[in-house]
Amino acid sequence: YDLKKGFPKNFLWGGATAACQIEGAYDIDGRSLSTSDIHCYHVDVDRKLTVEDEHTAESLQAAMNDTTSYFPKRQGNDFYHRYKEDIALMKEMGFKSFRLSIAWPRIFPQGDELEPNEAGLAFYDQVIDEIVNNGMEPIVTMLHYDIPLNIVTKYGGFKNKAVIEMMVRYGKVLLERYADRVHYWIPFNQINLIQYCGFKSLGLVLDQSENFEEDQYRAIHNQFLINAKLKEIAKEMPENPQIGIMLADCTFYPHTCKPENVSFAMTRNRMQYFFSDVALRGSYPRPMLRWFSENNIHFEITEEDERLLQDNPSDYLAFSYYYSRTVDASINSMDAADITDNPYLKANDWGWTIDPLGFYNSMSQYWDRYQKPLMVTENGFGYQDVFENETVHDDYRIDYLREHIKAMKEAVKDGVELLGYLPWGPIDLVSSGTAEMSKRYGFVYVDYNDLGEGTGDRYKKDSFDWYKKVIESNGEEL
Ligand code: BG6
Repeated sequence: YDLKKGFPKNFLWGGATAACQIEGAYDIDGRSLSTSDIHCYHVDVDRKLTVEDEHTAESLQAAMNDTTSYFPKRQGNDFYHRYKEDIALMKEMGFKSFRLSIAWPRIFPQGDELEPNEAGLAFYDQVIDEIVNNGMEPIVTMLHYDIPLNIVTKYGGFKNKAVIEMMVRYGKVLLERYADRVHYWIPFNQINLIQYCGFKSLGLVLDQSENFEEDQYRAIHNQFLINAKLKEIAKEMPENPQIGIMLADCTFYPHTCKPENVSFAMTRNRMQYFFSDVALRGSYPRPMLRWFSENNIHFEITEEDERLLQDNPSDYLAFSYYYSRTVDASINSMDAADITDNPYLKANDWGWTIDPLGFYNSMSQYWDRYQKPLMVTENGFGYQDVFENETVHDDYRIDYLREHIKAMKEAVKDGVELLGYLPWGPIDLVSSGTAEMSKRYGFVYVDYNDLGEGTGDRYKKDSFDWYKKVIESNGEEL
């Protein structure tokens, strides 16, 4: 056995972002509002993990008509106007890759048009060229929490089969336009995070469902079909674009070695693996079918659906990893948000634990299960940085990232095929969960506060030079 000593030469060091958290320019060139644009910033925001992402028909209308509150995701970090400067900073750090998402509402503002909006595509023509010309590989997410609102109000979101064709049309436009420059694609950000993100990733409204949980899985089934259809299109293309499935890592520890707890953690893990099982193995796992039938969840899986999934498995598994989760059988809930404290781990202000070994465990389990390439498309440490003398001394961030990179190294030594590492938010951006600016992840500080006040200017933090060195040494100098 040839023991791999370190990261492969072509390892994709980089960083990851999402259009709705960086671009701003929400009403330019025909762009419409998306599910993220109505996430309001509340000064008294609860920093703990909460389900913020829920709407009733009434609250949705109120948010859409609200002209007085501040909606940070409409402003982002102004990447739309500053992308050249940001890409230059990433190049200076030596990035080999940059994960961005394309905003569906720029390309098909209402979601249901038959022809794309050229002005929207023109923006990404320039951004993608800028990335490639600066020596980076763009990794593109097609949908990262910004569904055109019309798809929610007119069609009821992804539970509606009509939306399949709309998203496939959108995805096909992107593949045909950019496959010569974009090799790695992720149709859906974190497809498994349905309990936290029912509105922004599935477009579901609470009181528009008779059985909300059933609609969540109906919507997910439609997303699986879209993923497979896009793979079917991709495999006919000479550029051979790679279609990934992406999970938010939710690997669970049992709270104790009590067999009931161990068994419960396994069941919860299966609930997470379900999403990647369908996309990578091409069929629904039986325990999940049993769970559906015992929990009053019924939706149709046709023979044609089964064939499509079977014939078009995804090429790789992308995943985000921030923290591990612990469960106790007494919780007796399948909701990913229902977890217990882990007394062995420290956490940040938002309750997100620091657990590099959990990262190693997850990579190992994914690899053992699928034997398909893995890509770490998010990782990082959100913190309220102190900005002084035009910089931030973020040794806590360096410590977190260093330990996680060490964990990847261990996995690589085991033979795990790891394509790249793209820590979250290399240039500070708006938080997805809380819409704050002050939950920062970047190597670069952005001068905006939670209300969008500031110059928007960029400043290098201590972690900037550190990460540059890490990339230069291909992960040897940590
Ligand atoms: C991931 C999302 O779940 O976590 C990102 O894909 C998000 O969009 C990231 O920003 C960190 O979460 P938060 O709430 O700290 O922004």
